[in-house]
Amino acid sequence: MSGTVIIGTQWGDEGKGKFIDYLASKADVVVRAQGGNNAGHTIVVNEKKYALHLVPSGILYKNTMNVLASGVAFNPRGFISEIEVLEERGVDTSNIMISDRAHVLLPYHQLLDELAEKARGDNKIGTTKKGIGPLYIDKVAREGIRVCDFIDEERFKEFLDRKVIEINKLLSEYYDYPAIEIDKMYLEFSDYARRIKPFVADTVKYINEMAESGKNILFEGAQGSMLDIDLGTYPYVTSSHPTTGGFIVGSGIGPKLIDRVVGIVKAYTTRVGEGPFVTEDTGEVGDRLRIQGNEFGTTTGRPRRCGHLDLVVLKHAKRINGMTDIALSLLDVLSGFKELKVCTAYEVDGKIVSDYPASNYELNKAKPVYEVLEGWDEDITKAEAFDELPDNAKNYIKFIEEYLDVPVTYISVGPNRKQTIIR
Ligand code: GDP
Ligand code: IMO
Ligand code: MG
Repeated sequence: MSGTVIIGTQWGDEGKGKFIDYLASKADVVVRAQGGNNAGHTIVVNEKKYALHLVPSGILYKNTMNVLASGVAFNPRGFISEIEVLEERGVDTSNIMISDRAHVLLPYHQLLDELAEKARGDNKIGTTKKGIGPLYIDKVAREGIRVCDFIDEERFKEFLDRKVIEINKLLSEYYDYPAIEIDKMYLEFSDYARRIKPFVADTVKYINEMAESGKNILFEGAQGSMLDIDLGTYPYVTSSHPTTGGFIVGSGIGPKLIDRVVGIVKAYTTRVGEGPFVTEDTGEVGDRLRIQGNEFGTTTGRPRRCGHLDLVVLKHAKRINGMTDIALSLLDVLSGFKELKVCTAYEVDGKIVSDYPASNYELNKAKPVYEVLEGWDEDITKAEAFDELPDNAKNYIKFIEEYLDVPVTYISVGPNRKQTIIR
């Protein structure tokens, strides 16, 4: 048995989808354990591009089971439309399991997400408006509905009849917003419930039994470590745990099932939405990274904020995940830069800090301390081995490895499945 966790080490969009698809060729099971369709994971195979949001990134392999485990924010409407698109494109979507314990995301969660963002004004988080925050609020408040009850028509109706009173009270008293009706929602969603029923299973039992019988399991992170509700840049975070611990709880396994934690590291840094970003470059370099890296959101289309590689962030990500390996992505995007700045510490009020601060107040004052490395001009998109990379690209990789004391085991030099180097 081998259990491998794939996590984003920065603020999401590190190229997790590409690596999960790549590693899934040897996996029996791919598990999503947190987040929902706020994620956007891109896979490119033979010039065909797939954007996945809820469906795990092992879906392109016939023999891989794709599990949406209990920690996922399950949006039935999003799920059905995603599998319809995949089926139209000839992808078999029968290999999917949905946990009976996962919480169900309904349209009022999305409405509340939008209203809360509007109410925050200048303090907005910049969410994807997919309803993720309100869904997890309901879950933690013990006022949500899980898949096992959602697929039972009577229990779903009972739940909605009760819930609508609470939601409408909140809408009118807090947001001065008109009441919502549930009849149409009930009809639409009870149809989804019928359609998802064949996918629903006890995924805790399934994952653990697969592990016991020696199968390879890949845990697919959504979002990134710095968006973790406890360990990220709170409150500018998502509402789940996109870190190793989150997969343990979110899929119902013991920690010994995980023997490898691969951190996906984008060769520079990006972030969508608000919040601190010490190495952000709002000038020419940032603009050039955005264009060369095509840094526009897969889920919302928003331009991503871009900046230099931040090793202080990565050191934090290493610790909170127990990272054993690094997969370095989008290295090709750095070709053509004369020099590359890498942040090794922050200066806060004249003091040098190399542990990621909790306080946004400090982060907003932090100035990056950079080491400047030489860039390279060569096109590296066709490189198939580490030795084929220019010396300066090798030095860039070695610098990261030495600082973090974690090996860079995989290097991605283009979006295609094939553009991957194993060290
Ligand atoms: P995820 O959310 O972590 O799965 O990442 P996204 O799919 O949202 O964003 C990563 C983007 O970079 C996608 O458009 C990928 O197709 C693309 N990509 C992934 N790896 C590479 C790479 O090595 N080089 C280039 N140029 N693009 C890549
Ligand atoms: P993948 O899996 C990048 C960000 C949002 C916002 C914050 C909270 O593609 O890497 P939410 O809708 O979750 O309440 O938004 O988190 N965010 C992401 N940023 N990639 C993602 O997913 C993200 N999912 C959420 O932009 O700043
Ligand atoms: Mg993404």
